[in-house]
Parts: sequence; structure tokens; C-alpha cells
Amino acid sequence: MTAIITFANQKGGVGKTTCTINVAAAFALKLTWQSPDKPGRVLVIDMDSQCNTVVTFSTGVFGTRDFEVPDQALEDYLLQRTAAPLWDAIVTSEIPTNANRNLDFIFSTRGGMKQVEKDFSRQRLVDDSYIAASEDLHFLTGNSSLADGGKDEVVYRLADMLAEVSSHYELIFIDTGPKESMLTTAAFAAATHLIVPLEMQGYSSLGFEDNLDLVREVQRNWNPHIQLIGILPMRVVPNSVTHTDMIRMYEEKYPGLTLPPIAHRMSVQDSANAGLDVFSYKPPRRVGSLVSSDPATIEFAKVVARISSVLKL
Ligand SMILES: Nc1ncnc2c1ncn2[C@@H]1O[C@H](COP(=O)(O)OP(=O)(O)O)[C@@H](O)[C@H]1O
Ligand SMILES: [Mg+2]
Repeated sequence: MTAIITFANQKGGVGKTTCTINVAAAFALKLTWQSPDKPGRVLVIDMDSQCNTVVTFSTGVFGTRDFEVPDQALEDYLLQRTAAPLWDAIVTSEIPTNANRNLDFIFSTRGGMKQVEKDFSRQRLVDDSYIAASEDLHFLTGNSSLADGGKDEVVYRLADMLAEVSSHYELIFIDTGPKESMLTTAAFAAATHLIVPLEMQGYSSLGFEDNLDLVREVQRNWNPHIQLIGILPMRVVPNSVTHTDMIRMYEEKYPGLTLPPIAHRMSVQDSANAGLDVFSYKPPRRVGSLVSSDPATIEFAKVVARISSVLKL
């Protein structure tokens, strides 16, 4: 079965998008090296309505890459307003530049995904029958795409859609936005595995315990089979005593669930601003090793090795 890995954290700005882009790129490179002519494929899905991941893979953040907009977009399928095969929204990315065009993404737009978010949360309100108690009944009158949706149906729409394409991929990665978004809930419902990028900030801020609660909530409500690969300490300052202590604390308390940390480095931001993953920005020195002159590639390589060992790849 294809592993579907969702990156999620209750907090914004912790590095979910950065992890999704770079881990997906690393696996695309590894699969290229394994079978250069016909490599296994990687699919990336952006369930954040900000669409930062899609922007990076399509045009680059400053729109410097040419990009032919496909006929369909993710939102069309999530809103069930197209009967076209999902392949019509799937695009092969130009990055990583050193892989053999084996990284695909599902195209989406901010406007479209915001609409999905809005419609999905209305559906939840309908399910919880809050709406019946309110005055706001206009969308129950038949012109809404949700009028005939069943309970929980929207939550499983992404999972159902992926069934059509997942066997063509070795790995599928899903980026998410805020926890409250129904898009994030749908990403949990579709995933086989979960990685929680986490900033090492003070014990009182939203930490691992909160995210463990999140995992339990996901297992209880939507997806009993989802497996936590671990937390991924992000933007760690190497000589910070607080960060080092916190990582040690996590390793002791949750052995095996703390992934190798990614340091806070300008090079990670530089590659993002160039619209590239770290492996395209500073290409690996030799085929078969992800390591380049950018130390971030060493760290992402360690994370990829741990994911591979958990997934038995
Ligand atoms: N390891 C890192 N070193 C330096 N900057 C980073 C690192 N990880 C993420 N960032 C930067 O932090 C910001 C937020 O990261 P992002 O991946 O977009 O977070 P999220 O998706 O969780 O909101 C971005 O500007 C990104 O370039
Ligand atoms: Mg993001």
C-alpha cells in the first residue's frame, strides 16, 4: 500500500510547508537514483488554502518559472464540480531539477481552496446541527453543493479521490494549514502516516503533548489506522541550550518518536525564496547521496533515512 504522509501541527509557521517540499524532493531524488530511466513517483498535495506548496512547485514564489495551468484543480474535485479524472489536475513538477521528472503535484488555487474550506465548514455545521438553530439557512435550500452531502462525507472526499491514483505512486505527501480547517481534517482522514514538525519553543507553548492529543483525536474521529512517524524538531538553533534540552527531553520521554532535527538556516529560506527545494538550490555532490555544500541537506537526509526505516522502504 502506498504510504500517504501528512505533515501537520496546530501552529502556523513551524515549517510544515518547508518539510513537505524538501522531504518530497529528497524522495524523488532517491527514487531517481534507484531506477534512473523509470523511477518510482512521488505525489504532493497541498491542503492549505494558502497554496504555498503548489506555488513553489508550479511557478516558484516569485513567479519565475513558466507554468501551464491545467484544466482542473484540486478544489474542483473536493467540491465535486467535475467528473474529469483526477489526472487532469495532476502536474509534473520541474523540481527537483536533478530528479527524472518523477515528482507530481495536484494543482490548486487560493481562491478555490478558500471556497472549499468555507463549504466544508458549513457541512460540518450542518452535521452538528448548529445551523438549524441559526437564522442562516440559505445554503440549505438547494443551490449549495452541500445540500445533499451525507454526514462526514466531505471529510473523506480527499481519501476517496486518492484511491483513483495512489497505486501509481511510491509515496504521497500532504501539506496542511491551520488545525481548525476542515481541509486539515480531510488530510488526516486520507493519511496512513503523520509527521508533526515542531518548534522547540518554551514548555508552555503548544508542544508535543498537544499534538499527541491531536493524533488521538484523529484516530478516534476519522482515521483509526493513522500512524505517527514522529515529531520533527524544526528551526532548531544549534547552540541554543533551550533547544538542545527540549530535544533531549522529547527523546527521553518519547523514544523513537523524535526525528533528527532541522536547524534554522538562512540557506533553507534562500532556497525557498528561489522557488526551489534545498537539493535543487545546492545540488548533491554525487549520485546516491543527498548531501551537498548546504548543511540542511545533511539534516533532511537523516530525516529521510528515518522515514524510510519506519516505512520499510
Ligand atoms: N529550517 C529553517 N531554517 C530557516 N527558515 C525556515 C526553516 N524552516 C522554515 N523556515 C522559514 O519559516 C517560514 C515558515 O515556514 P513554513 O514551512 O512556511 O511553515 P508552515 O508551513 O508551518 O506555516 C518560511 O519563511 C520558511 O522559509
Ligand atoms: Mg505552510
